Amino acid sequence: MSRRARRWAVVVAAGRGERFGGSTPKQYTALLGRPALAWSMSALLESPAIDGVVVALAPGDRRWSRLPESRNPKVLACTGGDRREASVARALEALAPLARDGDWVMVHDAARPCLRREDLDALVSATRRDPVGGLLAVPVPDTLKVDDGGGRSARTVDRAGLWRALTPQVFRYGLLRRALAFCIERERSVTDEASAVEALGLRPRLVPGRADNIKLTTPADRVLAEAILRAGRRT
Ligand code: CTP
Ligand code: MG
Repeated sequence: MSRRARRWAVVVAAGRGERFGGSTPKQYTALLGRPALAWSMSALLESPAIDGVVVALAPGDRRWSRLPESRNPKVLACTGGDRREASVARALEALAPLARDGDWVMVHDAARPCLRREDLDALVSATRRDPVGGLLAVPVPDTLKVDDGGGRSARTVDRAGLWRALTPQVFRYGLLRRALAFCIERERSVTDEASAVEALGLRPRLVPGRADNIKLTTPADRVLAEAILRAGRRT
């Protein structure tokens, strides 16, 4: 029987955070007293457009069960894989009993705690009738250089038409499973869902998002993320 297309979210939180370092994995690092993962899930859990959320965790994660989000009936947890795309694929498998091919899946990095509801809503409405799906992205503002391998600038790249890919990225469940399987089988490295979909010859829609939807990558990003979250509380 047919039903309306549902919308699921996948939050990938199974990384090791090697560049971030520290004794607490970056997805659990405290930002204004709350773990990054809780911040990253908050816009998704508040959105009435999202029917359920799957979180992909590192094997042996003992921090998740201490988060109130782990008891939210809309949330399901699974174990991720050794690469980001494997973690997404595992989460999609966990969704198999619930999701249909025509449902939407929104994939978000646990390491992006500053996602705002307005960006989530913009992504949902920009892709609602899109045949492919899309992603939040920001036009590159800086002048780009290519080095000569010896620490000198060999040339300048035209930044026109260049974007930074953010998350969430949203695609139909069936298409995303096919795209990831296609790339994983061929051992093609994919750092986001859009690149897997592009490998099938499709063109995901670029939805302009906020530049402050940053990813926690190095320790310096913590201060930045806290400042962004603090500013967000006041608006
Ligand atoms: N991720 C994941 N499973 C992996 C690798 C990454 O779920 N095997 C998740 C991370 O937890 C993070 C997101 O993908 O939320 C973005 O990846 P990245 O910033 O590279 O995080 P890490 O891989 O944890 O960090 P690093 O590359 O510095 O080790
Ligand atoms: Mg990584």
